[in-house]
Amino acid sequence: MEMIRRDAAFSAGTWFKTAPAVALTVLLFTGGLGIALVCAQTPPQPKPWKTLAEYKKDYGRPASVPYLADNPYSPEKARLGEMLFFDPRLSGSNAISCASCHLPGIAWSDGVPKSFGHAGTVHVRNSPTLLNLAWTEQTAWDGRTIELEGHVKGPIANPRVMNQPHDQLITELSAIGGYRTLFKAAFPSDGITIDNVVKAIAVFERGLVSGEAPFDRWIAGNERAISEPAKRGFLLFNTKANCAACHSGWSFTDSSFYDIGLADADEGRIKILNLPSMSHAFKTPTLREIGRTAPYMHDGSIPDLTRVVEHYNRGGDVKRESLSTDVRPLNLSKAEIADIVEFMLTLSAPAKPYPVPVLPMIDHAAR
Ligand code: HEC
Ligand code: HEC
Repeated sequence: MEMIRRDAAFSAGTWFKTAPAVALTVLLFTGGLGIALVCAQTPPQPKPWKTLAEYKKDYGRPASVPYLADNPYSPEKARLGEMLFFDPRLSGSNAISCASCHLPGIAWSDGVPKSFGHAGTVHVRNSPTLLNLAWTEQTAWDGRTIELEGHVKGPIANPRVMNQPHDQLITELSAIGGYRTLFKAAFPSDGITIDNVVKAIAVFERGLVSGEAPFDRWIAGNERAISEPAKRGFLLFNTKANCAACHSGWSFTDSSFYDIGLADADEGRIKILNLPSMSHAFKTPTLREIGRTAPYMHDGSIPDLTRVVEHYNRGGDVKRESLSTDVRPLNLSKAEIADIVEFMLTLSAPAKPYPVPVLPMIDHAAR
């Protein structure tokens, strides 16, 4: 991490300008032409802190998904969790499911700046993707909940989100024969309880992992998997543009919290952790599938990726005391901004249909 930070002082743009000069020198010498001396006069240029091959190594995918010791994976739980996630009967109105705001077709986000909850109430924040959260300890934009398990109860009972008191939910689910069978299979000792609803949904969510993208094929050795502009963008991302100071590792997040200078009244994490640097701080989101999850940021205020990079290039819009020192004017050219966007688009796996589960029927026979 420190290495990348120091490296930000160097310009990847300069490095790219130098590389062809070196290549040209070699070419001209081998061609026996004296003008090579012109190139040789260029003063030595700073290089990126690491080589491209070394940067690539920082982004390898993990081999397996972590589950909690007290909520291990089982196919029965994952299947039940998926049904509950897609079932609008989890809400008070029976009209809103988790999937209403976390749609599989747009990488489990919802496409609007701020989500619509119970009876059309506008949520205070943007709905984030649910990908790769198995690797995140603090959940939600402000990290107020712990692990996926710690997040499930909130949206169900929240009157502005799904508006379903937990005891009422258990009564409703218990009246559905299919769920009685499914809960028994997943939790043989205690069946339908709110804690088991939590466990099943969290096991399902842990399985939401971004698929293999062109970027992964590139770092695995296929040089043709991504374009030349995207490769330049990757190097800029790790050097001059300083993005990797926070968007690091295979899922492009350090799961930490920063104020990146958005003009929004939401005070963010300071309400959870009372430190000056946490004022207006929000969790670094993953950049996997980032092309699909517009609009961006906790307030949904930035409509596309070019404007996201322009925001960072300006050094943010509001220079509060809490503004992260890693957000500062970057002096990126228009072409460099386009390269970084091109790189981010290589983080999407090829589109694959997501089959929505068939849900259990209510009991129709008179009781
Ligand atoms: C009305 C829309 C809406 C519904 C319904 C909804 N969510 Fe969300 N979800 C959001 C929004 C908005 C956030 C961001 C909230 C915040 O951070 O303050 C969020 C955040 C999350 C997060 C945290 C993501 C992260 O990056 O840490 C998880 C996990 C999640 N929701 C899962 C669920 C589950 C499971 C359900 C169903 C039980 C659900 N959501 C229902 C809108 C919704
Ligand atoms: C200081 C840490 C930091 C740096 C440096 C940084 N980011 Fe971010 N990034 C964040 C945080 C935190 C958020 C969420 C901010 C919010 O919503 O308030 C974010 C949000 C984003 C988003 C929107 C994600 C979404 O799902 O809404 C994108 C895209 C993004 N950053 C790309 C970049 C790029 C490209 C760079 C380099 C030019 C960069 N970031 C530099 C921390 C950082």
